[in-house]
Amino acid sequence: MPSLVVRMLEELQVEDGHNVLEIGTGYSTGLLCHRSGDDAVTSVEVDQDVSASAGVALGASGYFPNLIVGNGLAGDKDGGQRDRTIATCGVVRLPYTWVEQTRPGGIILATLCGWMYSSELARLTVAEDGTARGRFLGGQVSFMLARPQLPPPLGMLPDLDGGDEQPTSVGADALDDWDTRFVAQLATPRAQRISLERDGRTEHVLIDVESASWAALAQHGDTWTVRQGGPARLWDTVAEHVTHWRRDGSPPLERFEITVTPAGQAVTWPRP
Ligand SMILES: C[S@@+](CC[C@H](N)C(=O)[O-])C[C@H]1O[C@@H](n2cnc3c(N)ncnc32)[C@H](O)[C@@H]1O
Repeated sequence: MPSLVVRMLEELQVEDGHNVLEIGTGYSTGLLCHRSGDDAVTSVEVDQDVSASAGVALGASGYFPNLIVGNGLAGDKDGGQRDRTIATCGVVRLPYTWVEQTRPGGIILATLCGWMYSSELARLTVAEDGTARGRFLGGQVSFMLARPQLPPPLGMLPDLDGGDEQPTSVGADALDDWDTRFVAQLATPRAQRISLERDGRTEHVLIDVESASWAALAQHGDTWTVRQGGPARLWDTVAEHVTHWRRDGSPPLERFEITVTPAGQAVTWPRP
């Protein structure tokens, strides 16, 4: 963790005189204070106890930044625009609030995650038009998810016996690969992945709790089949997206681009 924090702070490219908004308070907050001075650092932490104990530890080290207890996805609405914004928890959707609270030319550093647990560190620059654009930095960086963006409990599983069994050219083993999984979760951001032992075989299941959609895959020798239920054809969507990415040459995540506008977040890869 300390070495990841150091890498993140290097990637944040803090310069003299910069002020910083940080999401998630702790060790990194001390390093930011050391680099920029207490007055330049605001850190928002959702967990009151973590914030309190971090505050004590920071004070004992001689650092007194502005600490806020609250949901960091809302940033610090009273703090104006910062030069740098850094999230030390992962996000599934990067909030536009962070773009609004970072000055044009400023940098936002955050780990983009998903509910299939592939993730990557992204550095975005805010443009004059109020959008932010950036690239992924590689290294398979993963962080705990920001609290309000955690996946919902799976609850009672849907009846996985329905649906016609169809062959699929993309097997569930594709999701063992980090980059492919990242592409898959872009296609179905609300899908969660589990494995079940049923009827003497392993079933690889995607479930979208909100839409009550599911896909169950099984391997038969070299081939894969899928059964799907609910309004969203989860595996059709994953297979289409992954096939498209593979046809484009499977560009690595470092070549993907992320854009955040008031309308939301878009992640794209370069087309050949
Ligand atoms: C991996 S820890 C990093 C903490 C700290 N930056 C450090 O270097 O030790 C992630 C922190 O993010 C906090 N967190 C999670 N969701 C949050 C949210 N929505 N707003 C603010 N903090 C959040 C967690 O409580 C946790 O303390």
